[in-house]
Amino acid sequence: MNVFVTGATGFVGTEIVQQLRQSGHSVRVLVRSLNSSSSRLLASTYGAELHRGNVLDAVTLKGGLGGIDALIHLVGIISELGENTFEKVHTLGTENMVKASCDAGVKRFVLMSALGVRPSAVARYHRSKWAAEEIVRSSGLDFTIFRPSIIYGRGDHFVNLFARMSRWSPVLPVMGSGQGTLQPIRVEDVARCFVGSLHEPLAIGQTYDLCGPDVLTMPVILKTICEVIGRKRGQVRIPLALARGQVALLELIFPAFLRKASPLTRDQLIMLEEKTIGNCDPAKALFGIAPPHFRDGIAEYL
Ligand SMILES: NC(=O)c1ccc[n+]([C@@H]2O[C@H](COP(=O)([O-])OP(=O)(O)OC[C@H]3O[C@@H](n4cnc5c(N)ncnc54)[C@H](OP(=O)(O)O)[C@@H]3O)[C@@H](O)[C@H]2O)c1
Repeated sequence: MNVFVTGATGFVGTEIVQQLRQSGHSVRVLVRSLNSSSSRLLASTYGAELHRGNVLDAVTLKGGLGGIDALIHLVGIISELGENTFEKVHTLGTENMVKASCDAGVKRFVLMSALGVRPSAVARYHRSKWAAEEIVRSSGLDFTIFRPSIIYGRGDHFVNLFARMSRWSPVLPVMGSGQGTLQPIRVEDVARCFVGSLHEPLAIGQTYDLCGPDVLTMPVILKTICEVIGRKRGQVRIPLALARGQVALLELIFPAFLRKASPLTRDQLIMLEEKTIGNCDPAKALFGIAPPHFRDGIAEYL
C-alpha cells in the first residue's frame, strides 16, 4: 500500500514508519520542514517521500495525497504554543486532513486519539481529541481510531524524562494526589496495531483502547523506573494547588521567554488525576499484540 503519515517525525510516528517499511508499504510523510534532522532521517533511513506542509494550513496539503491508499493521522501536541492550540492542532488539523482525504479519494483513515477522550472531559486535550474523533466518525471514510494510554519506548518523552531527572535529583516530584492511574503501553505494540489495521477489514469503523497490562499510579511508575535503572531516589508530593501555581508560571515563562511549549501544563495535571481504565482485549485479539508489563518493557531500553 501507499501510506501517508502525519506526525511521522515524532516519537510514535518514527516507529510506525519503520514498521510500515518493514511490512513492505511505501510511505509518504507530512513534514513542516524538509531539512530537520528527523525529516532527513525518515527519508534516508526509511526511504520515506517527504511532503512539506502543516495540518493547520489546508492549502499545503493539496497535492500531497495523490496515489495514496491509506492515511495515518498522528499529529498532536501535549502543550500549546502560539497558534498551535489544542483546538487548532487536534480539531482543525483533523478536519483539514479528513477534507484532504475526501478530496483525493483516499478512503482509509486511521486516527491517533488518546485514552480518556470524551465530550465531557475537563482537559481540553481530551475534548479537542474527542472533537477530532467526531469529525472522523461522521466523514464517511473507512476509519479506525486508536486510543492509547501513555506510550513508552526508546526516545519517549515520559520515562526518559524521569530517568534523566534521577541522574541529578535526589528526589522525583509527584504532582497532585498521586492517585491517578495510567496503563503504559510499548510503542512497538501501538505501531503494530496501526500497521495491522490497514489490511484488517474488521477494524473499519472501530475504536480501540491501547494499554498495557498494569494499572499504575505515578508513585509506582517512578519507583519502577528507579528500580530498573538501579538508582535509589525519594519522591516529593507537590499538592495540587501548589502544582497548579508552579505550572501556571511555567506556562507563562516558557512561551514568552524561551519560545518553547511548557514542559508541563495545567491540562496535564488534570489528566494525571484521572483514573480512566482502558480495555485492550479487542486490540490484542485482532492485532495479535501482547504488551509486556511496564517493568519488563522499560528494561528493554533504559
Ligand atoms: N506519546 C504518548 O504517550 C501518547 C499517548 C496517547 C496519545 N498520543 C498521541 O500520539 C500522537 C503522537 O505523539 P508523539 O508522542 O509521537 O508526539 P511527538 O513526538 O511530539 O510528535 C508530534 C508530531 O506532530 C507533528 N506536528 C505537530 N504540529 C504539527 C502541525 N501543525 N503540522 C504538521 N505536523 C505537526 C510534529 O512535527 P514536527 O517534527 O514538525 O514538530 C511531530 O511529527 C499525538 O497525537 C499524541 O496526542 C501520544
